[in-house]
Amino acid sequence: MLDRRRFLSGTATTFAAALTLRGSLLAQLEKAPPLPDHSLLDKNEDAYWAEMRKQFLIPEDEIYLNNGTVGSSPVPVIRAIFDGYAATEKMDQHDPEDYPIWGYASWNEFRDPLADFVGCHHDEIALLRNATEANSYIANGLDMKPGDEVLMTDQEHPGGEHPWNLRAKRYGIVVKRVTLPRPVKDAAQVLNLFNDAITPRTRVLFFSHITTFSGVVLPAKELAALARTKGILSAVDGAHVPGMMRLNVLDLGCDMYSSSPHKWLMAPKGSGFLYVRDEVIDRLWNTIATEGWNDTKIRAERFQRIGSSNVPALWGLRASIKLANDIGLDRIESRHRKLADYTLDEMKKRGAESWTSPDAALRCAIVTVNVPPIPRMDLENWLWKNHKIRIRGAEPNKLRLSTPYYLLKKEIDRFLEKFDAYKREKKMA
Ligand SMILES: Cc1ncc(COP(=O)(O)O)c(C=O)c1O
Repeated sequence: MLDRRRFLSGTATTFAAALTLRGSLLAQLEKAPPLPDHSLLDKNEDAYWAEMRKQFLIPEDEIYLNNGTVGSSPVPVIRAIFDGYAATEKMDQHDPEDYPIWGYASWNEFRDPLADFVGCHHDEIALLRNATEANSYIANGLDMKPGDEVLMTDQEHPGGEHPWNLRAKRYGIVVKRVTLPRPVKDAAQVLNLFNDAITPRTRVLFFSHITTFSGVVLPAKELAALARTKGILSAVDGAHVPGMMRLNVLDLGCDMYSSSPHKWLMAPKGSGFLYVRDEVIDRLWNTIATEGWNDTKIRAERFQRIGSSNVPALWGLRASIKLANDIGLDRIESRHRKLADYTLDEMKKRGAESWTSPDAALRCAIVTVNVPPIPRMDLENWLWKNHKIRIRGAEPNKLRLSTPYYLLKKEIDRFLEKFDAYKREKKMA
């Protein structure tokens, strides 16, 4: 049993640690410089992005090449979260029935900027907590009979694939997969693979807009059109897309779209959304149910009836959209492409086999390379423990390098230098 003195001294230590953290975090937020002016970008591109780097809490001596798993929320986003707490935690809302609890209301002040950002109306979008949640809504919510098929790729994330696997095991639907080439050479390759795998039982095409495995940007518009011509629903897992490249779900023409803006939009962790095309909303059942689940008048809002959750995260999400708009998505996307292309070229010079598409339209800010015989986990640990460089990979020899806009060229160069050093040390050079 915990004795009282130990408990109290433990509590005091935790409290002191919290104060220190609070002090240092607030100090960091306060000392962060203003956002750089766009005129600097025209004069000196590197200087502009170096200024932007200062908006991120990632220490100067750390290199973060794994934005693909989760982004780092910059100062304006963290400030907005704090503002959200300050505004809501006093419990002094004008209306005595109004509480900051997310899952019982429309929250259009947050849905509107998000809907504008991704190209739809707020009635077609539900604020959720991540792509896994949104994908689960899709897989659980459509009427399908045993034997009906969903067709996906072999590069889906577990948070995209497993909701369907669960339904297959429990209710007898069938999951089919096309195998994507490594690398995918062009859009036609992907379209032919899907077209050839569609059967009379196919009910849904489900695919990542950008896959977690290779970072390939799949031809989502063409795949959605293919599905439409065959009377099949299209559901796109766009976890990586908002904030990495321009997105317009209406223009894509898909029926459903899920995402995790805590990746490339740098929104707070626990930011997700589900888009459902207006004509499809009434065909999707809720997975989580509370009051409103059956109210078709509220359109996609019924999918965000998830019970109590963290409203200040929505303040952060709105700030992350504002930041991306302030920088300009075209500037962000072009920066992403430049950094990724540079990284890919340098890795190829080092003999890496590229699993990144040679077609510029099918790649953006994720580079994947295969580097046998380097054991990726050993390299990952070695880079982090010795040099504070974070990368991600997959067994046995694949590396995935994410190049967010705040990454500096000198940081990529440092990674490359240490990659070479690893090979020398392990006698693989
Ligand atoms: C394509 C894809 N879908 C879904 C997910 C799961 O995202 P989350 O953990 O935010 O739900 C990821 C995460 O890496 C992903 O890459």
